Amino acid sequence: MRINKYIAHAGIASRRKAEELIKKGLVTINGKVVTELATTVKSGDIVEVEGTPIYNEEKVYYLLNKPRGVISSVSDDKGRKTVVDLLPNVTERIYPVGRLDWDTTGLLILTNDGDFTDEMIHPRNEIDKVYLARVKGLATKENLRPLTRGVVIDGKKTKPARYNIIKVDPEKNRSVVELTIHEGRNHQVKKMFESVGLLVDKLSRTQFGTLDLAGLRPGESRRLNKKEISQLHNLAVNKQK
Ligand code: URA
Repeated sequence: MRINKYIAHAGIASRRKAEELIKKGLVTINGKVVTELATTVKSGDIVEVEGTPIYNEEKVYYLLNKPRGVISSVSDDKGRKTVVDLLPNVTERIYPVGRLDWDTTGLLILTNDGDFTDEMIHPRNEIDKVYLARVKGLATKENLRPLTRGVVIDGKKTKPARYNIIKVDPEKNRSVVELTIHEGRNHQVKKMFESVGLLVDKLSRTQFGTLDLAGLRPGESRRLNKKEISQLHNLAVNKQK
């Protein structure tokens, strides 16, 4: 593997940033400075960046049922609990594939595979993300229809979404609606409902492509198997054809 790719794969820097590190003479292989970008790394080679050895970890993939009150990042400067803290025995440097809000529960994938992450979150690949929302107000086909055409949030139109009205409770003046989208913009589902006059008061992601949360209680996680990973990858690849 070429040296810049090796550094990028290890999660140290992007390929371009890795090239800069190499050109600056900050990278060594087996103790020797390399400045040639075409240099390849062989198995057993020891690569160091600014004197620190780096390792290419095995790629790992986890599925987490995120509970409420946990943030979707790797670390938090305010010391709040993160989704990575919920998988304490994982030694690889995993991070969440996209984000769920602090108060959103449900399906979250964590991995150390950057290419897989890009595939899963790029709207071009149209991977279904299914959310179950409890909203204040009475959902009707009429007030939800704009979501199927796209609504403008933060100055940009959303891609067409699908909805399914699960329950309407006139006494409590609230409804439960399932919404399927392909994008992952900031607070997207909450903002989409808000744009049609319905305020989300509970939100959960129930499906991501071919995955659901069967067998996982809030806070529980498990490794994805090879078949599940390739099914997700195939969803993305088939869309690109
Ligand atoms: N949309 C939201 O509004 N919040 C989430 O956590 C995920 C999608």
